[in-house]
Amino acid sequence: MQFDAQLIETLRGARHVAVLTGAGVSAESKIPTFRDAMTGLWARYRPEELATPQAFAANPKLVWDWYQWRRGLVEAAAPNEGQKALARLADLVPRLTLITQNVDSLHQRAGSPEVVELHGNISRTKCAREGRIVASWPDTDQVPPPCPHCGAHLRPDVVWFGESLPPEALRQAADAARRCDVFFSIGTSALVQPAASLIYETMRRGGMTVELNPGETPQSDEVTHSLRGPSGVILPALLHAAWPEA
Ligand code: OAD
Repeated sequence: MQFDAQLIETLRGARHVAVLTGAGVSAESKIPTFRDAMTGLWARYRPEELATPQAFAANPKLVWDWYQWRRGLVEAAAPNEGQKALARLADLVPRLTLITQNVDSLHQRAGSPEVVELHGNISRTKCAREGRIVASWPDTDQVPPPCPHCGAHLRPDVVWFGESLPPEALRQAADAARRCDVFFSIGTSALVQPAASLIYETMRRGGMTVELNPGETPQSDEVTHSLRGPSGVILPALLHAAWPEA
């Protein structure tokens, strides 16, 4: 695979690389992306209709069951070559900030030492009323189960449409986008804010921006380099091209 010489040179010389990932980096681990049609039991729903506070208020059991199904997929999944390449990248550049919109922990399981999670984590559960993280709850037939402290519904600790992002994660992500030499946007449709706007912080300063996606996104014409293909193939090849000795 051939890569642009300037991309390779900038990557090798970069002091700080920022990477934003989306559902596409987990696609090769067989976790469906958000904007792919769902199959089987969930085929008649769209994720955008289930991942909202309004959906949870209207039908908490439906939303809880959907997340239980996704949790099962995540637990059965294994990190793929793209996620493993990003874990190796942490040892190849002086500083890497890995920012993800994914809630599946696959970057951590691939070995990435630090991950900024913008949209929470599906493996954590919190009280829908007080936001307190809850590690266990009484075994009842209630779905969703009740909070052991206040009895309100429990919910996954993920960010739903219309909710704010965790402020510290957003601060770290924006800080990295402002300071990095190279910003990668990988496997994201670049449609959901504020994550999709982080890349503009790097562009504004004249930093290099790289998109990696099998398809086009609204940012394809704006980035310095647009790499087309699956991250599980392109990322290992890119690392090999930049650090053949590693
Ligand atoms: P999307 O499902 O919107 O987009 C996935 C992107 O991955 C698409 O642009 C695909 O072309 C691309 N893709 C598919 N297979 C790929 C592969 N093998 N390698 C690389 N890219 C591939 O997912 P996100 O952009 O992550 O938010 O969605 C952003 C947010 O919207 C999610 O975090 C979620 C969602 O609804 C919340 O839940 C708040």
